[in-house]
Formats: sequence, structure tokens, C-alpha cells
Amino acid sequence: MTLPSTLVEPALPKAVGPLSAAIIELLQRGRPSLPLRPIDVPMFDADPYGLDLQLALYICYELHYRGFADVSARWEWNPALLHLRGRFEEAFLDAVRQDVGEIGPDETAEAEMDKLSVEPVDGDGPSYYLRDKGTWEQMLEYFVHRSVYHLKEGDPHAFTIPRLAGHSKAAFVAVEFDEFGGGRGDYVHQHLYAQLMDAAGLNSSYLGYLDNVPADALASVNLMSLFGLHRELRGASIGHFASTEITSSPGSRRLVEALRRMGAPDACVAFYQEHVVADAVHEQIVRTDVVGDLVAREPHLDRDVVFGIRARDVVEDRLADHMMKCWTGNRSSLRRPLD
Ligand SMILES: [Fe+2]
Ligand SMILES: [Fe+2]
Repeated sequence: MTLPSTLVEPALPKAVGPLSAAIIELLQRGRPSLPLRPIDVPMFDADPYGLDLQLALYICYELHYRGFADVSARWEWNPALLHLRGRFEEAFLDAVRQDVGEIGPDETAEAEMDKLSVEPVDGDGPSYYLRDKGTWEQMLEYFVHRSVYHLKEGDPHAFTIPRLAGHSKAAFVAVEFDEFGGGRGDYVHQHLYAQLMDAAGLNSSYLGYLDNVPADALASVNLMSLFGLHRELRGASIGHFASTEITSSPGSRRLVEALRRMGAPDACVAFYQEHVVADAVHEQIVRTDVVGDLVAREPHLDRDVVFGIRARDVVEDRLADHMMKCWTGNRSSLRRPLD
């Protein structure tokens, strides 16, 4: 089946401030010439977690995924744009490093992964809330927040593949193989998520909700792109991946319970059910074969793996807090509420 190009390449989002406006204006100029003079934008008062910077960064990264309709693919490696992106990345990474704080010399990836495996029975994040008392409307908002990730699920971490070697690479690819449907297009997790969106009556087109989601939903994906696209951060990328896989199975189980309580369509349940089962297996592979082999091969990356796990916590906690604050205050957690 051939997709119309509009479904492959999303439309550019709307600017929300000077940084995103500068990037969008640039991309609309047509095919860039080399060299382009450095582009200057005022960064001094930009909030590193704010919507303007996160949207600008998301747009820059998207050039490495599907790009945008009517934007020249040549922008992907334009030095002037990369220079600007580097400044956004620096601001974001500095803020995350500060929030993660000091990582002690004796802290190990293994101990950090052990901590992740201990799930509180009564947590207070969105999956617990949705399981126990959230509404279907709030569940739809949750789907929309996650759509900027799940419609490209597996892709950000896949940038890390060439940066690995030996057994950790083989094991990492084995897990990603499942994320990409084990060779079957209908089982690609991105596709399963599009089916979830359709069944829920939402827009399943790629980045169809880029203008609706708040900064924290964008930051969640930007962190993965940042780690995946920098070889220097490969240990953090693997830590992020490990944390995603280890926490996915219990979190997905709560969402299955939430969806069953709400009488949700089967395709919605199916997406999370798939993750309850698959990620319980992935957890074991990631711990021993991916992380275990990586740190045995490159011991200096051990604390980077810890950093990746904690950085994911920082960014995901911000999104979770945002959702909970809005929902418990009876407000929409989206920038633009659903109709
Ligand atoms: Fe998945
Ligand atoms: Fe998985």
C-alpha cells in the first residue's frame, strides 16, 4: 500500500515563540545553500523545559525522522541549523544534568536497574490515576501526549545501534526487532498505536497532535533523540532504553486495567496488552545482555547508563506531574483541548 506523502511527512507546527518561529521561518525558505551564515537567536531568557525551546528542538530533530511536507530534506545536515540545534541541546542537557545531580562513583547501572524493578503498589502517577478513577476523556489526552512518541516508537533508540558492538548490539537489535513488528508491518508498534488512535476516534496521522501537546510531552521524545543522535551519550541512550523497557510492563498492565474498566475498544487494550507480555521478556534481555555486556565492554559508560535512567525519570516526572496537576484541577492537560 502506498501512503500519500502527506501521511509520511507531517505539516510544520505553528510557532509558539521566537525560537520556534526562527526555525520554522528558516525551513520555509526552500532548499538551503551551503554555506549559510550562523543564525543568531536570543537564547538568554529561554526556559530549557519551556514550550518554545522544546518545540524548536523537536522540529530540528524531526528532520532526521520523517521531515516535514514542503520542507527541503537538505536542511537535515545544514551547518547553520545544526549550530542552532546545538545551542538548544546544550540548554536542555544542562538543565537535565542539573536536575539529575551528582552521580556517586559507586553508583552502578545494575543497582539502578534493580531499583526500577521495585514498583510501588499504590503510586500516584497517571497510570495509577487512570486505573482507579480517571475518565475516558483523560485517557484520550494520555493517548495524545504519548502519540508524539509511540507513532515513532523504537526510532529514537535505533540511532544507537551503530554505536554498539558485539553481544550488546545483537541483544539490543533483538529487542528493537520486536518493536518493529518482527518483520511484519502490521505488528510494528507504531502501527499498533495508530490503530489505537483510530479505535479511540483520534487522529492517527503522524505528529497529528504536534500543536496540541505541551512542552513536557515534547521533552520526553527530545531526550531520546538527543541521546540517540550523539555517540557521546550512547551510555545514556542505553540507560534510557533500559528504563523504558523495565518500567513498561507494570505500567502497561495498569493501563490495560484502566481501559477495561472504561470499556475501551479492543485495539486500545491490545496495544498495552502487547507491552505487558513483550516487555517482561525485554526487561531480562536489556538487563543482562544489553546493559551487562555494554558495561563489561566499556566500563566507563556505567555511570552514563545511570545518568540516562535518572534523566528519563526527571523528564517523565515532569510530564506526569503536569497531567496530574491538570486532571486533579479539572483542566485539560493539552495545550489545545480535544473537541
Ligand atoms: Fe513497544
Ligand atoms: Fe519493549
